[in-house]
Amino acid sequence: MFKDKKVIVTGGGRGLGLAIVKAFLEQEAKVGIITRSEKTAKALVELQAQLLTRKESNNPHIMVADATKKEEIQAAIDGFVQEFNGLDILVYCAGVLRQGFILEETEQDWDKIFDLHLKGALFAMQCAVPVMKENNQGAIINLSSLAGQIPRLKLAAYGSAKAALEQLTRIAALEFAPYGITVNAIAPGPVETDLLQQYKRDNPGALKKLIHGDLDSFHIGIPTRRISTEEEVAHGTLFLASEKSRNITGQVLKVDGGQSTL
Ligand SMILES: NC(=O)c1ccc[n+]([C@@H]2O[C@H](COP(=O)([O-])OP(=O)(O)OC[C@H]3O[C@@H](n4cnc5c(N)ncnc54)[C@H](OP(=O)(O)O)[C@@H]3O)[C@@H](O)[C@H]2O)c1
Repeated sequence: MFKDKKVIVTGGGRGLGLAIVKAFLEQEAKVGIITRSEKTAKALVELQAQLLTRKESNNPHIMVADATKKEEIQAAIDGFVQEFNGLDILVYCAGVLRQGFILEETEQDWDKIFDLHLKGALFAMQCAVPVMKENNQGAIINLSSLAGQIPRLKLAAYGSAKAALEQLTRIAALEFAPYGITVNAIAPGPVETDLLQQYKRDNPGALKKLIHGDLDSFHIGIPTRRISTEEEVAHGTLFLASEKSRNITGQVLKVDGGQSTL
């Protein structure tokens, strides 16, 4: 379904982003990975041989850029477009988790979270959409989080930034619909990645409560009684990027085991 489609995944070097990259490569898409650190980029090069690339010519294109710096993202996207002659799909998956109570929140930490989860998504769209417009088609998928919809303790900045990202997604869907470009978001519940490892370290015991429910914090828990896999989030992303979802735009697809049904 994605053979020779040109895809960029920001934050595609690890975790959910890498699972999404692998899923697109499986379908023979041409994939560009934007990662922030040289360390992840180097690890990716070493991993390339195992990256499910059945054909050597279909190795992912690795780019190092900070998603919060527009000139770096512009250069990365321009480079990819030049190399592959276009861009069909953008997945904005760069993210970090930072926790803290509201009264302890610093301006610097607040700004960092909003810069990455919200302003970075804006920059990526600003760089990608002019290219997509030329072909009158495209799909953009932004990685949100259930924390953007359900209030969680110590996630004021992260949850608020994700909520704003979902509204940016809906407004972008309106603005870009005339150009044949869909814009949707995926809101996963917890998924086992480095980001969740950090959450577990900072909140011992919280994941068990989150899965099984807890009157004080997580209410019903996760009805399916398990967290999602990276692959399940990737499948949702590929659906929103596919021809089958061409008339779905401005939506948020939750991949959460029914956690949000309460
Ligand atoms: N895991 C979960 O439970 C979960 C649940 C809901 C939503 N999400 C969302 O899903 C997305 C991916 O999360 P994850 O769990 O896969 O996280 P992760 O394993 O920690 O990976 C985060 C990725 O974002 C990249 N990144 C961070 N800052 C960046 C920057 N300034 N510029 C460019 N790239 C940057 C990282 O690049 P480097 O490797 O170079 O640092 C890494 O590739 C995030 O938006 C997160 O909020 C995750």
